[in-house]
Amino acid sequence: MMSKVIAICNQKGGVGKTTTAIAMGAVLAELGKKVLLIDVDDSGNPSLSINLGTEEPERSLVDLMLTSYMDRDTTSLLEETILHHGEGMDYIPAENRLGGISEILSASQDEAKKRTVLKRAIAPIRERYEYILLDAAPTLNMMSINLLTAADEIIITTQPQGAAEDGIPALVSSVAQVRQNLNPDLCIKGLLITMLDRRTNYNKEKASTMERAYSDLGMRVFSTRIPRAITAESCMEQHQSILKFDPKGKVAAAYRDLVNEYLSEEA
Ligand SMILES: Nc1ncnc2c1ncn2[C@@H]1O[C@H](COP(=O)(O)OP(=O)(O)OP(=O)(O)O)[C@@H](O)[C@H]1O
Ligand SMILES: [Mg+2]
Repeated sequence: MMSKVIAICNQKGGVGKTTTAIAMGAVLAELGKKVLLIDVDDSGNPSLSINLGTEEPERSLVDLMLTSYMDRDTTSLLEETILHHGEGMDYIPAENRLGGISEILSASQDEAKKRTVLKRAIAPIRERYEYILLDAAPTLNMMSINLLTAADEIIITTQPQGAAEDGIPALVSSVAQVRQNLNPDLCIKGLLITMLDRRTNYNKEKASTMERAYSDLGMRVFSTRIPRAITAESCMEQHQSILKFDPKGKVAAAYRDLVNEYLSEEA
């Protein structure tokens, strides 16, 4: 078994990346898949870790990145770092210090090496999981390049409003750059519209316009759209995914649909 590594990206903040990573992980675990979530948020806000219930981890992605950066094997460290969530997914937490690692990477002169630190850090466990989901930070820096280099696919989340999509062109050009360099098979799996408020016409129209615009550009837009609901916010404090917090709600249903849509097209 070789896992599929899916990065959830958009350098705009607050567009549902972390929520989507946790919810997709929970659905896949519900379906009996072996899932690992990795908090790759280096912006000082490790919200995936916090949402899953770990604020101050003993070991984190920081230790793994440092070890990998020093060309050391991460196998035994991974054993100590991987945590288990009650809903069936495993995860690797981050912490505030992850930003410092990004700075070290940016300053490094070894161009090829500094881009593959994350990929090499997680290589020993790729056999153990079917899906590895990477939760990206709202930034585009050397950590994001590491994330794109480690990934097989990316899913871009966006809200159907305002500036949420402004960063997409820069992200797409980073993907193109990473493809040319170190990861030729990296694929943009699709654009996911999140936090859609069906009650506002502006939101609905914006979603349709986005769908058309990106489809025309050749980017696939998931036909599943994630609705906005207050429960999707409240679940965080309970350290639960929306699947557990409100299993019969419309957001949980939408994330189940999304995973179905995703899996039905998997080779
Ligand atoms: N479907 C939804 N309905 C309502 N609120 C949502 C929904 N999805 C996410 N949210 C809320 O919106 C906020 C931003 O979501 P989230 O943290 O998933 O975005 P993000 O892209 O990871 O943000 P950041 O860029 O800061 O990492 C959070 O408070 C979250 O609880
Ligand atoms: Mg986030």
